[in-house]
Amino acid sequence: MKFYVRTYGCQMNVADSNEMGRHLRARGLVETDDPDEASVMLVNTCTVRQHAEDRAFSEIGRLKRWKATRSGRKVVVTGCAAERTKAYLEDRFPFVDMVVGAKSIEDFGQMTERLLDRRETDEELDYAIRSVDDKVAAFVTVMRGCNYSCTYCIVPYVRGREIYHSMDQILDETRNRVREGAREITLLGQTVNSYRHAQYRFAHLLQAVSVVPGVKRVRYISPHPYYMTDSVIETMATVPQVCEALHLPVQSGSNTMLKAMARNYTREQYMTLIAKMRQAMPEMTISTDIIVGFPGETDADFQQTLSMIEELQFDWGFIFKYSTREGTPAARFDCLPQEVIEERHQRCLELIDRIALAKRLRLVGTTQEVLVEEDDFGRTRTNYKVHVNGNVMQSETIRVRITSAHRATLEGELDNGNITFKNFREEGGCAGART
Ligand code: 5AD
Ligand code: SF4
Repeated sequence: MKFYVRTYGCQMNVADSNEMGRHLRARGLVETDDPDEASVMLVNTCTVRQHAEDRAFSEIGRLKRWKATRSGRKVVVTGCAAERTKAYLEDRFPFVDMVVGAKSIEDFGQMTERLLDRRETDEELDYAIRSVDDKVAAFVTVMRGCNYSCTYCIVPYVRGREIYHSMDQILDETRNRVREGAREITLLGQTVNSYRHAQYRFAHLLQAVSVVPGVKRVRYISPHPYYMTDSVIETMATVPQVCEALHLPVQSGSNTMLKAMARNYTREQYMTLIAKMRQAMPEMTISTDIIVGFPGETDADFQQTLSMIEELQFDWGFIFKYSTREGTPAARFDCLPQEVIEERHQRCLELIDRIALAKRLRLVGTTQEVLVEEDDFGRTRTNYKVHVNGNVMQSETIRVRITSAHRATLEGELDNGNITFKNFREEGGCAGART
């Protein structure tokens, strides 16, 4: 029996999909990348913006035919849109076999037990043990939910209040991922750096995960500016496994908008924070999320966002058009005309892309440490995706000379002459080319 997973939304959802995949594998199912082969279709949905929800719903609509073409097929809908619209989903798509909202993801194992209602054969169990997630870069969820109430955001409603996993649980999961082939661990949570459990805070977690044998790199997503404490910055700067890259959502460059959004920092505080981090880690890359067209955003507010992007020189960023989420405080405010939102979105995108390209071009000619994730692709410590020309091996950390920069990726070649690491090892190694 095979299953197919379709994931919408953020890394939290990707991690949840991986988790659900592990449950299904433990039940003897095998993952496929061909929906035609699958008997179980899992659609993990997102509701952060209306567009994301609409895409998931039209996909679910198409599954009616998919389900009818072979008997015994099951459709499972999970995640944030499932949490928000459970009753509506069941009503509109009666062929859906199971709905698991984002708050109940941890019950997924038990729920599928009932859905599939069958015992594994020994053969299948054997298979389940062999079938592992062999991703070089793996996610480990450290907390769920969010205690903030940013006025535009639906997340606290669909994912609930914060709950933290224990240090032991996180370290166990890290060791499991390493055993399955991971070399890079990304700690995940909606406001990941607000982590607190027993006497441990986020900086302790970074230190502890970094020294798990086999872990070469540690990242985290998504931090909240409020919890970027000096001890977190110092840990980043001093623990060698923690990478010099940070995705730190700012949302707006205007203090009026930040206040209306109920973000608990000012433009000046955010900018000071970035300066402090760049001082501690000069080579660090910083990316962000920005919402344009929030209700009440004037042209002057929007200019503040543009000037902030210009001043901070973000390495890249996601620009979102404001989308009203029913039930959030901002849903009561009057929306800006759609053309204004579109136009600001376009201008903001152009600016952030122009800076991002200039920054990538500056890397041409430099040498970067790249962890090879798949085929010829890897990432720098600063989180640039690099296509490496040459003979490279998955999970190796290699030195790469950057030869060119494209829109989304860098191009590079191994920085050790004609000797590839693979050949080098086969030849017994010489000349100290390996670093
Ligand atoms: N409209 C547009 N963007 C949103 N985000 C969250 N809620 C909304 C919304 N209602 C963006 C924020 C957040 C990212 C994950 O999605 O920028 O950081
Ligand atoms: Fe949403 Fe704000 Fe929580 Fe982020 S911190 S998930 S934007 S409420």
